[in-house]
Amino acid sequence: MTKKKEVKNVLVLLGSPRKRGNSAILAKTIAKGAKSVGARVETLYIHGMKIAPCKSCYACQKPNSKGCSIKDDMQSVYKKLMEADAWVIASPVYWFTVSAQTKLWMDRCFALIPRAGEAFGGKRIAIAMSYGDTDPFKSGCVNALRTFQDAFGYVKAHISGIVYGSAMDAGEIKKNEALLKEAEELGRHIVIG
Ligand SMILES: Cc1cc2nc3c(=O)[nH]c(=O)nc-3n(C[C@H](O)[C@H](O)[C@H](O)COP(=O)(O)O)c2cc1C
Repeated sequence: MTKKKEVKNVLVLLGSPRKRGNSAILAKTIAKGAKSVGARVETLYIHGMKIAPCKSCYACQKPNSKGCSIKDDMQSVYKKLMEADAWVIASPVYWFTVSAQTKLWMDRCFALIPRAGEAFGGKRIAIAMSYGDTDPFKSGCVNALRTFQDAFGYVKAHISGIVYGSAMDAGEIKKNEALLKEAEELGRHIVIG
């Protein structure tokens, strides 16, 4: 019988500038669920980090590459991404797709492609999104979700679950109790499967 992989370390990436915003609340609720079944959770606030855009030098893709050539905060993020068993990625919908902060992080994950098996393989990924419109299609949330699905599909990473909901003002998402329940359950799911 094969033993199920035990998820211990969960890394949360907040892609909104609003630390107490709706996507952050969803991420925090996922983290609460993960912690309730014994996971250690670390949260990174992308907006507060020095992460430059990918400069397309391709140094990271060369044989025997030492990884990304940009020496900024992303270097410590790479290490944490590799070490974590599960990732929670939270983003608001900005202009019908993910936020610029989230996209910045995603572009820099290009450097993980040569080590995709190690970086993405076996990882459990949870996505949390919020948008101002009432409809996931009209808001552009589906575009963002499609981006995650395509990107993680490309690197053969597994998305364990997605939670998304409508809320405009920071904190408004708390009114959606059913969604918060779903988020907490997703947190447990990424740890215990
Ligand atoms: C720059 C900007 C662009 C936005 N673009 C959209 C959009 O295209 N579609 C939408 O439904 N809401 C849009 N919104 C609203 C946010 O998605 C919404 O307020 C969301 O709940 C914010 O999440 P947060 O609290 O985690 O930051 C936009 C907000 C900002 C500030």
